Amino acid sequence: MMDAHLLEVKNLKKTYPIYGNMGKFFKPKKRMCAVDDMSFYIDEGETYGLVGESGCGKSTTGRTIVGLHKADSGSVLYGGKDLCGLSDREFRPLRGELQMVFQDTVSALNPRQRIGAILEETLKIHGVGDAKKRREKALEQAQIEFFAAASHELKTPITVIKGQLEGMLLGIGAYKDREKYLLRSLRVTQTLESMVYDLLTISRLQAGDPGFQTGKLDCASVIRKYLADTEDLVVGKDLQIECRFPDSVPVHANESLMEKVFSNLIGNAVKYAPPEAVVKITVREGQGSWQFSIENTGTHIPEEAIPKLFEAFYRVDTSRSRQTGGSGLGLYIVQKILQQHHSRCHVRNTQEGVAFFFELPQRQL
Ligand SMILES: Nc1ncnc2c1ncn2[C@@H]1O[C@H](COP(=O)(O)OP(=O)(O)O)[C@@H](O)[C@H]1O
Ligand SMILES: [Mg+2]
Repeated sequence: MMDAHLLEVKNLKKTYPIYGNMGKFFKPKKRMCAVDDMSFYIDEGETYGLVGESGCGKSTTGRTIVGLHKADSGSVLYGGKDLCGLSDREFRPLRGELQMVFQDTVSALNPRQRIGAILEETLKIHGVGDAKKRREKALEQAQIEFFAAASHELKTPITVIKGQLEGMLLGIGAYKDREKYLLRSLRVTQTLESMVYDLLTISRLQAGDPGFQTGKLDCASVIRKYLADTEDLVVGKDLQIECRFPDSVPVHANESLMEKVFSNLIGNAVKYAPPEAVVKITVREGQGSWQFSIENTGTHIPEEAIPKLFEAFYRVDTSRSRQTGGSGLGLYIVQKILQQHHSRCHVRNTQEGVAFFFELPQRQL
């Protein structure tokens, strides 16, 4: 004997009453046949698709199977039982096994609408097809957030300077030592100044300043110049600088922007490495590209901080950065500049320290 089907619908018929304009108080005038002599079966593990135009009785079939409607005739066999003959009470234990997922009218195809209108409606709901608008919205949101963060960051040093000046003018307690507090105010002013310069760079980058034109550039000489200009810092901290790069590293880039990339990355290594650490500046030749790496020993960046490192105003240790006077914009600027050059900066903790690296295509000088 063949196994019974999981669900078998046999000669199902379902009609609905059509009431006259006097409403349901009077006998229905006629009956409309929604499903007539419907038969099919579903075996275990099968998915059964019932296809037909709107009004052909698909939903009525479903509703009758799950017992929401009583069939006029025919049977629905499930697990050997005819569901059509069950009372509400007998049906109840089966409710967990037989369910109807109701049609979402918004995503369903309405035969009275043209296909373009149907698709447009769905796309509108899901925001698809309007990618430009969504990008604009996201950009607008990012700018609002950046502006709020910048105002907050600028406010902090201004409040500090204001407090120190007031303290000195009023001759309050420790502030009587004017020499000490004038020097502190000057230092905070320098932080403020470098932050404003960073903000100006960012706004010029965003505005696509025509002054940032690209051309042939030798990165080796940019690095050498930066190291010569900052020799004092390196000597003061007793750092060891290891340079491993060819005499010339030709790329196609903007000079002042690449100066910023190297000054920020080498500057960070020098600033955050402990005394007597090693700073390694390496450029390797890849396949048609240059692989830059700026590495320092003696520091590690917590893994959880790494994804946020290139965000604007992000510093790993705020108290320490306050001492070193960083704006938290350096790596953000580096990433923006490299993005403009179709590249990207990455960071990784190495065995001995931290390495920042990126790639640029090789160009003939
Ligand atoms: N070489 C490095 N070693 C350790 N920490 C670093 C290094 N470079 C950057 N950082 C961390 O990343 C943070 C963000 O760097 P950056 O954007 O240049 O801002 P900042 O103005 O604070 O230097 C720094 O505050 C520092 O905590
Ligand atoms: Mg920095």
